[in-house]
Amino acid sequence: MDKNSYSIALIPGDGIGTEVTAAAFEVAVKAATTVGATLVPTVYDWGTDYYFQHGVMVPANAIETLRGHEAILLGAVGHPQVPDNVTLNGLLLPIRRRFDQFANVRPAVLYRGVSSPLKGLKAGEIDMVVVRENTEGEYAQIGGFVHETHAQEVAIQTAVFTRHGVERIIRFAFELATRRNKKNLVTSITKSNAQGFSMVLWDRVFQSVAAEFPGIKTESLLVDAAAMNFVRRPQTFDVVVASNLFGDILSDISAIVTGSIGLAASANIDPTRRFPSMFEPVHGSAPDIAGKGIANPLAAMVSAAMMLDHLGLSAAAQRLDAAIAGVLADETVRTPDLGGTSSTSEVAAAVLARI
Ligand code: NAD
Ligand code: IPM
Ligand code: MN
Repeated sequence: MDKNSYSIALIPGDGIGTEVTAAAFEVAVKAATTVGATLVPTVYDWGTDYYFQHGVMVPANAIETLRGHEAILLGAVGHPQVPDNVTLNGLLLPIRRRFDQFANVRPAVLYRGVSSPLKGLKAGEIDMVVVRENTEGEYAQIGGFVHETHAQEVAIQTAVFTRHGVERIIRFAFELATRRNKKNLVTSITKSNAQGFSMVLWDRVFQSVAAEFPGIKTESLLVDAAAMNFVRRPQTFDVVVASNLFGDILSDISAIVTGSIGLAASANIDPTRRFPSMFEPVHGSAPDIAGKGIANPLAAMVSAAMMLDHLGLSAAAQRLDAAIAGVLADETVRTPDLGGTSSTSEVAAAVLARI
């Protein structure tokens, strides 16, 4: 492909994933056009419907197939009739691991025109990023059952923390804080008061990496206190670095304090660029609203803007971000999660018009 064409794998997945991915790709294509770039999609119908037909979430060559693309835009995975460990371990989680997308970047910004459920916070006052380790830790999938299904069954699930894995995510967080140049602060999320091995390694590595960045201030919070402080003083955070599970949980809190999970975007990045990175909203397939056409597509759209930026199309990314911010500030077209009555496609049309 010529240098202005980018091959994108679209995996709409399940539930509202299909609704928001279509809307997000449409606006990303338009934004790319404004800088003379073309996004060339290949749609993969992998997900739970595929599972119902084939007994697997993806074909055997899925990873090889995806490898040929420059980025992946994913909707969501999960279906009420299939256990989540089957669907998520069959599709989403293996992509993060196999493509070594070790940095899961989850910004949370309080937009103009959106009210926080917390009192007294003004637009722009919350502007933080949760940087979540994405390939090991509590999600390492090491373990098993003994005496499975019997009364005496035992389950073992082992967390795996490597110095390599901890160091690279913490360094990524410091580099991001440096690039952002906002509060120049990195907050480390720990639990070394109870977890005397993994989190002790985490704390030790945090201190040694911090020493390489004298211009960046640091803070270390126990995860329980951090959960409280995400609600009590979200405006004080800049970059927050956390293990896989802690980052997962905290990024739902950072999402809701900025108004809705329907606005929370994420990027699963392989910073070495050996593999394609994957962009997806923080939210899931939302079976409670799937098929109604009322899912907020903005989280997927902000994720698509992160994709454009990753592809080097930063002017297109800014254009898309500005259009999204404009629609929110205008306060007329918005989905029910933000207190409005608009549909997914009405929001998409409003964003398109502003691009
Ligand atoms: P969820 O994010 O799907 O939904 C939580 C709540 O938020 C629901 O009330 C839903 O209606 C609402 N919501 C979510 N996204 C919204 C949007 N864009 N606009 C408006 N409202 C929105 O989380 P859940 O209910 O815990 O999980 C449902 C399924 O999704 C499960 O199978 C779960 O495992 C899966 N899941 C997948 C991903 C992913 O693929 N990345 C992420 C989270 C959950
Ligand atoms: C997320 C999701 C996933 C995770 C689930 C669906 C496996 O909650 O991306 O936040 O825990 O990483
Ligand atoms: Mn989550």
